[in-house]
Amino acid sequence: MFETDFLTPTHGAAYRDAVAKAVDTLLAALPSQPYSGKSASELATLLKSEILPATGAGIEEALHRVRPVIANSIVLTHPSTIAHLHSPPLLASLAADVIVSALNQSMDSFDQAPAATVIELAMSRWLCDEAGLPAGSDAIFTSGATQSNFMGLLLARDACIASRWQWSVQRRGLPAQASRVRFLCSEVAHFTVEKSASQLGLGSDAVIKVPVDDDYRMIPGELAKTLRRFKDDDLIPAAIVGTAGTTDFGSIDPLPEIAALAREAGAWFHIDAAYGSALLLSQRHRDLLRGFDQADSISMDFHKNFWQAISCGAFLLRDSAQFRHLEVHADYLNPETDEDFGIPNLVNKSLATTRRFDALKLWLSFQALGREKFGRMVDRTIELAAHAAAVIRNNPALELLHQPRYGCVVFRYRPARPDRNSDALNAALRQRLFERGVAVIGHTRVRGRQCLKFTCMNPTVSEKEIEDLLRQVVEQGRAIGDLSG
Ligand SMILES: Cc1ncc(COP(=O)(O)O)c(C=O)c1O
Repeated sequence: MFETDFLTPTHGAAYRDAVAKAVDTLLAALPSQPYSGKSASELATLLKSEILPATGAGIEEALHRVRPVIANSIVLTHPSTIAHLHSPPLLASLAADVIVSALNQSMDSFDQAPAATVIELAMSRWLCDEAGLPAGSDAIFTSGATQSNFMGLLLARDACIASRWQWSVQRRGLPAQASRVRFLCSEVAHFTVEKSASQLGLGSDAVIKVPVDDDYRMIPGELAKTLRRFKDDDLIPAAIVGTAGTTDFGSIDPLPEIAALAREAGAWFHIDAAYGSALLLSQRHRDLLRGFDQADSISMDFHKNFWQAISCGAFLLRDSAQFRHLEVHADYLNPETDEDFGIPNLVNKSLATTRRFDALKLWLSFQALGREKFGRMVDRTIELAAHAAAVIRNNPALELLHQPRYGCVVFRYRPARPDRNSDALNAALRQRLFERGVAVIGHTRVRGRQCLKFTCMNPTVSEKEIEDLLRQVVEQGRAIGDLSG
């Protein structure tokens, strides 16, 4: 009675048919513009449905009902979708995702994911070697850099408190002295550093922001000064976070200098390389990651510039013994006796219990494309950002805020009439492009000023498409400026 609703060795044809119909639906409904432009309330009306009907309509009809969802999604492959660190996924990753979902292995214990565990272990070893971490390092796949940064800071907190006060946070909670514990990062580091500090019971005020230079890189002299002040104030630098690829500028902090200061201060050195880790694959730009091998822990996201389907990330740890701060044994899942038999249960080093086999997406993409092609794709995103910057610099209607070294370009539209409120105009311009479905471009605030942003993640985009988009930005700016005239 229920057999036809599952994939079994005897129901392969039904499975193939269901997946083929899903693909057909997707292709038929995929829009040709970046976005339909609909607002949240318009979508709420359009997508209103009975959530759980008493009797099902069958897969074909159910798929038909998904069409408006597809038609009102952001099209990541469109050259004018260029807002976020949100990449179009590789076909190889999408193909792997079909297998990952169908196998539905759960990565917590070996008896739920035997071959998948071995592949993830091999990928973890490769990632650590690639990052230059020593033997004794280890990694785990995560849902992304929010989770990876949280793990890095959790282990930094617990290692710091264990070594200073012989205190196990895992068993006893935070000691009174924890109010002296601080995390440091640059003023343009990702907000998840503060979010982690608040979730870790230290409070977001425990995050001290170090100033950046004109290229939006942490200034080591300022870090050194802050660390000296800590000594006078009896504060403890548990972790210093360096960013390799900031969200807005793609800037890479001076990792070797930060590593040296962290070592001297006895602080854990975490690198948030959610975005920048892809530079490992670039022959031309890999040296931007000098100092990577000095990290105590690293966050990498493969759903950014490795073009993997969401979600896919990893957390790398220099000394795998530090995973002990996370370890809990459950008799039904990962009994301690498994370790005596050499049975690897990955839940021992993970925040999540049930976890997808995301490592296969990256593994299959590596097999299909190879290192050289990946490297050239990373290089291409850098070329596109450099081209956008050159066009912006030569257009008096635009103002470039920095010279990009990676794929992000932050700029502003300059109103033709200087009496215009340029912050409001830049915000309105971006919103209008979005609402008209013309382009999905980024926005951010830099030193109190409203800015626009291109995040070049799509290596198939051409220079001409970048130029056309910038022309549209200027045209919209002029149109809004004139309208409000
Ligand atoms: C530098 C940086 N760190 C962390 C994150 C959070 O990553 P995720 O969205 O994968 O959790 C982002 C997201 O864009 C980021 O840019």
